[in-house]
Amino acid sequence: MIALLGGCNLDTRMSTFVTKGPIAEEQLDLFMLTVWVTGFIFIVVGGVYVYAVIKFRERPNDDRPMPSQGHGNPLVEIGLIGASVLLLVIIAVPTLQAIWFTHDTPDDPGSRMGAWYPGEELAEEEAENPLVIKVIGYQWWWAFEYPQLGVTTANEMVIPAGKVVHLELRSVDVIHSFWLPKIAGKVDLIPGRTNAMWIQAGDNFAKWKEKQGLEGEGPELRADYATYLEEEIHDYYYGQCAEYCGDSHARMLFRARVVDDEAFAAWVEDERTGHTPPGDATWEAWYAAYDKNPGQLTGDLNEGLKLFMGRAKCATCHAVNGNPRALGVAGPNLTNVGSRLSIAAGWLNHRAEDGGIDVEQQYDNLFKWIKEPNAVKPGNLMWKADGGGIGELTDENGDPALLTDEEVHKLSLYLQSLK
Ligand code: CUA
Repeated sequence: MIALLGGCNLDTRMSTFVTKGPIAEEQLDLFMLTVWVTGFIFIVVGGVYVYAVIKFRERPNDDRPMPSQGHGNPLVEIGLIGASVLLLVIIAVPTLQAIWFTHDTPDDPGSRMGAWYPGEELAEEEAENPLVIKVIGYQWWWAFEYPQLGVTTANEMVIPAGKVVHLELRSVDVIHSFWLPKIAGKVDLIPGRTNAMWIQAGDNFAKWKEKQGLEGEGPELRADYATYLEEEIHDYYYGQCAEYCGDSHARMLFRARVVDDEAFAAWVEDERTGHTPPGDATWEAWYAAYDKNPGQLTGDLNEGLKLFMGRAKCATCHAVNGNPRALGVAGPNLTNVGSRLSIAAGWLNHRAEDGGIDVEQQYDNLFKWIKEPNAVKPGNLMWKADGGGIGELTDENGDPALLTDEEVHKLSLYLQSLK
């Protein structure tokens, strides 16, 4: 037993025992309370059981009379019922408190957008609200929409440290479940209804001070708080769909990048700006050439973009901000996909040990995914979408024709350049 427990590491990247925010903390506290109560029951009941088995076991030449039976003894019956009720209440009260705590998004003054968001162009009425993210589940990936900021991303959400974030969870197909173990979980995404939850990576200033036993305001305290966020909270967190949702449920992962306010605003700006065509041409000029004489658009990146818009039909389902004709919404938004540390909803990773991008691995992952998405994620729409999927591509004569390795190569390079 001890040897087996030795194999348990509580500090893994999806551990619920290492909490990085108030919700996960609340959930862990509730879990531990339940462990103690049920552990107590286990020891008492098990102890009585073992005692009875040893004391009343049949011995050789045993002529003791049958021990008296407790059934119907009012003292025992009422005592057991009373004890059970008491133990249930001990669990039930904190459970209800935890449900309310995790359900109602708190109005934390420091988390109101107006109080911290350093970016521009925030609608006035949003200044009083926390950051809102719409989480939408698809088979098998995640869309993260930031309606206040006009940004949509996929599979890697970015959130500011120490701030309350309100989530609205929906699904377009079947039931999924949002689970970001170190920060919060789990709430289901259910077709036809919107669920809500809130998350927060790290403590806010007030809670941090309380835990440290500190009081007051002042730049020094603020600086210490910033250091706490930087050292303990800014990180790359691993999430997972926690409700069986079909073929590739196990491959429906996601990530959360927790950053400081400035980095968050910079990310938003970057997403909104999107991309220019290869060589920094304007989109007008690029499409003028593309429509009239695409042959003059040469080089791997131009070839990749031509495939993206044309034969490979990527833009039918994928949007890329900046590009006025890449507006698809059936698949993940690919703005800055080259900056993400994984693709295919977290299944193919290219995060280097230093937290940056392993460029070779990224290329290999893109190549593998575009070449044979069905092998990476069985059942996915990119492979079998009616009329649009990679499995149904055609050549100029209308005959079925998968992408050649050369074409996949150019597409991979183009996607890699989107950063
Ligand atoms: Cu989505 Cu399991």
